[in-house]
Amino acid sequence: MKILVTGGLGFIGSHVVVKLQEQGFDVVIIDNLSNSDIKVLDGIIAITGITPEFEQLDLREKPAVSDFFKKHSDVRGVIHFAASKAVGESVENPLLYYENNIGTLVYILQELQKKEQACFIFSSSCTVYGQADQMPITESAAIKKAESPYGNTKQIGEEIIQDTCRVNPNIKATALRYFNPIGSHESALIGELPIGVPQNLVPFITQTATGQRAELSVFGDDYPTPDGTAIRDYIHVVDLAEAHVAALKRLLANQQATNFDFYNVGTGKGSSVLEVITAFETVTKKKLNYKIVDKREGDVIQAYADTTKVNNVLGWKAKYSLEEALFSAWKWEQKQL
Ligand code: WQD
Repeated sequence: MKILVTGGLGFIGSHVVVKLQEQGFDVVIIDNLSNSDIKVLDGIIAITGITPEFEQLDLREKPAVSDFFKKHSDVRGVIHFAASKAVGESVENPLLYYENNIGTLVYILQELQKKEQACFIFSSSCTVYGQADQMPITESAAIKKAESPYGNTKQIGEEIIQDTCRVNPNIKATALRYFNPIGSHESALIGELPIGVPQNLVPFITQTATGQRAELSVFGDDYPTPDGTAIRDYIHVVDLAEAHVAALKRLLANQQATNFDFYNVGTGKGSSVLEVITAFETVTKKKLNYKIVDKREGDVIQAYADTTKVNNVLGWKAKYSLEEALFSAWKWEQKQL
C-alpha cells in the first residue's frame, strides 16, 4: 500500500518514513528541500535498507501537484508535514506562511477529493491552544486566537480539513496536535537539522554542548511556575512517529468514528527549561553554559498534554523518557561534528 509523505525529508517526516517502511508500507516522499537536505534520504535507506520513491517538487505549484497524483494514482494515504514552521519568521513574513501552509493543503485535498477513498493525516500543533486555561490540555480546551501566523495556519488548516471531510465522506482525516518533538532515531542516522541558529530549545542545547554555540539563553525565569522557567511537553520524535502509524492504520481500517478527528500527542508530562537543562547535564555528564535573559515574545507559560484520548482511542502511549530523548539528541549532534 503506497503512502505519500510530504516533507518526508524533514525532522518528523523522516522518522515517520522509517516507521512506515518498517511496517511494510510503500512510501513516496515529496520534499522541496527548502528546509531539509537530500542526505536525509541516505539516512533513511541506511536504517531500513529500503529506498523510498522521492520527488523533489514544490507543493505551491498546483499543476505539479495534479501531475504527481496522476502519476501516483495508487497513493492510498497522505501524511502531510510539508509546511513552514518557524513562529518568529511567520510574524515577519505572514504571506509566505499562508501561501505555503494553506495553499498547499488545499491543492492536496483537491486531489484527494477525486479518489474513491483516501486517508489524510495532518501535522498540527499544540500551538492551536495558545495559552490554555487548564493543565494538562485536553482536546476540548478552547482554541484561542493564534499568537502567530504559523499557529493560525494550523488552526485554519484543521478547519479546512473539517469542512472538506463534512462533504467528502471518501476522505478520512486525523489531525495530530504535537507538543514539543525532540531527539533522534537510535542509530543517529537521522535527526533534527535546524538551518542556521536553532530556534528550538533542544538543538540549541546540543549545539552549546558541542561548543558550536557559546551559551544557551534561557528565555525568562520569572514565569509563574515552580522554578520560574516555562514548561513544555517534550516528546521523543520516535514516539511521535509511532503515533502517526497508529493513526494511519486506524484510518485505513476505517475505525475512526467520524471522518475527521484530532488528538493531542505528548507524553502528558511537563518539564521546565531548567529541568531540561539538568536532565541533559545528567545524561551527558556535561556542564551546560547558559544565562537567563528576557522572555521571548509569544511564548506561553506552560503547555503539556492530557493524553487520555490518544491513549484510549488511538491506542498509543509515549514510551521514551525525557532523558532518553535528550541522550538521543546528543548522540545525533555529536555525529554532525
Ligand atoms: C521551548 C521552551 C522557550 C530556545 C515551538 C512551536 C511549536 C513547535 C515547536 C513547530 C520555551 C525555551 C527555547 C532557547 C529557551 N514548532 N527556549 N531558549 O516555542 O514551545 O514550540 O516549537 O512545529 O509549534 O510553537 O518550542 O523549543 O522554541 O521552546 O529558553 O534558545 O524553551 O522559551 O519555553 P516552543 P521551543
